[in-house]
Amino acid sequence: MRSAIALGCLALLGVQVSGQNLKDGQCAQNFDANTDYFPDKLQTRDDDAQYYEIEYHNNYKLITDHRNEQQYYLVQCGTQPPAGLAANAIIHQVPVTNVAALETTVVPYLEMLGVGDSIHLIADSSMVSSSCFQKYRETSNSVTELSTTNVTLANQQADAVQVQFGSSFYITDENGTISSAAVNEPDILGRAAWLGYYAAFYNLESLANEIIADITGNYDRLKQAAGGYKDDQKPLVAWTMYDAPSQYNQNTASWNVSVADFKIQVTEDAGGRILKPDTLQYFKKEDFLQALTDVDIIIDETYVAPTFDALMEDYGTTTGDDSSYKFIKNKRVFRTDGILTPSGGYDWFAAAVVMGDAMLSDMINVVNPSAPSEDYKRIWLRNLAANESISVTTANNCTWDESQPRPNFAARFEGDGFSMSGASTLTAMGWTAAVLLSTAIMTLF
Ligand SMILES: *[C@@H]1O[C@H](CO)[C@@H](O)[C@H](O)[C@H]1NC(C)=O
Ligand SMILES: *[C@@H]1O[C@H](CO)[C@@H](O)[C@H](O)[C@H]1NC(C)=O
Ligand SMILES: *[C@@H]1O[C@H](CO)[C@@H](O)[C@H](O)[C@H]1NC(C)=O
Ligand SMILES: *[C@@H]1O[C@H](CO)[C@@H](O)[C@H](O)[C@H]1NC(C)=O
Ligand SMILES: *[C@@H]1O[C@H](CO)[C@@H](O)[C@H](O)[C@H]1NC(C)=O
Repeated sequence: MRSAIALGCLALLGVQVSGQNLKDGQCAQNFDANTDYFPDKLQTRDDDAQYYEIEYHNNYKLITDHRNEQQYYLVQCGTQPPAGLAANAIIHQVPVTNVAALETTVVPYLEMLGVGDSIHLIADSSMVSSSCFQKYRETSNSVTELSTTNVTLANQQADAVQVQFGSSFYITDENGTISSAAVNEPDILGRAAWLGYYAAFYNLESLANEIIADITGNYDRLKQAAGGYKDDQKPLVAWTMYDAPSQYNQNTASWNVSVADFKIQVTEDAGGRILKPDTLQYFKKEDFLQALTDVDIIIDETYVAPTFDALMEDYGTTTGDDSSYKFIKNKRVFRTDGILTPSGGYDWFAAAVVMGDAMLSDMINVVNPSAPSEDYKRIWLRNLAANESISVTTANNCTWDESQPRPNFAARFEGDGFSMSGASTLTAMGWTAAVLLSTAIMTLF
């Protein structure tokens, strides 16, 4: 009973004395303008983010999102904001302890920093793919879901947290909104480096520096190891999608090839070649299929594709070992839906954004099934052609403590260069065994 009361008081303090960090920091006592309150600074010159910038002053930091040129003054709690700021300057006390995550991508960033349990407001929780966030939400009873029917209520919910990471259509009073351009970063390691942006709100810069360096180092070693294939060994990879006729497209079907920067990067760094046709959108399936003539591997991003047969029918062809398409004959059609919530929320748009090294590992295995190791189990890229199953994620899959830094999916890679063995020799039998094994291992997560 006593401890329950103590916890209640602490929780109250966390909300009202805005910014008192109950984990790592304290509010400053006896403000001294000559003290550097942020001895741990982000090492931004070492990272690949282009869209954000941070400037340190003794008791405040100025952080800028260059995508929309939004600026935030983050003032150490217990100290005074700088004098002479513009009347519309946005000022927040840090470290924050009570936040909203209104875009699902935000959740794993905060989790990797060990502050997933500072989230007390969420947009649509059914789309959040983190099992431990779900467990925390179900057991703590301290996460509110943003109202989508009552704007007054949504604004009240937003005002009950210190900041809202990401924006929502339903919040009209945006004084607490913190924008994010992590997914707009062209570079995969630039996306990971947004850990630093979030960390600045929690005074967790030194932890962010460590994690960013880990992800970057691991990515670079994996890239190096995948860098030795001969040009004629490198499979041609196409990132494609089918858009079914609907009210949103004048009932006109189309087929797209994507050459988004991060897809080019991950494909090439994994040792593949990426298809870059002159035309990226097709309205005739014959033209689309023509563009796929030499493709070895498809990464399909069609929103819903229940089976390989159905997907290939949508592409305008049929499955079968006698197909003239190598990706069909060799059964190398992958989708990004390896982990989904029961309502279909993609972990690919969440954890895969920050864990750039893990994304590269998956792609390395797509390009060469014997790398990064013979027994590698892909996380997000699911081989639909081999009938690999989707791993549904719920609170029951939770394996870490939401109040501690979430482990990266990627294992630390220290090995030698990969050789392109196995790629063409993998039989249908081999795939079946791999699928069974993969299912068995996934249940351990
Ligand atoms: C909307 O939310 C406000 C604030 O909680 C409440 O007073 C009001 O009754 C709600 N309106 C409706 C239609 O439920
Ligand atoms: C935003 O404005 C509302 C009222 O207009 C206020 O209650 C709330 O504290 C403000 N939030 C922030 C973070 O400034
Ligand atoms: C397909 O590509 C076109 C042109 O780049 C783009 O406007 C369209 O939104 C894409 N379709 C989908 C479903 O992403
Ligand atoms: C694919 O796997 C599902 C179960 O995950 C099974 O029901 C189905 O029959 C399999 N399809 C083929 C073509 O093997
Ligand atoms: C969660 O656990 C279930 C049951 O063991 C398993 O089938 C599923 O693949 C797991 N999901 C993930 C994402 O590991």
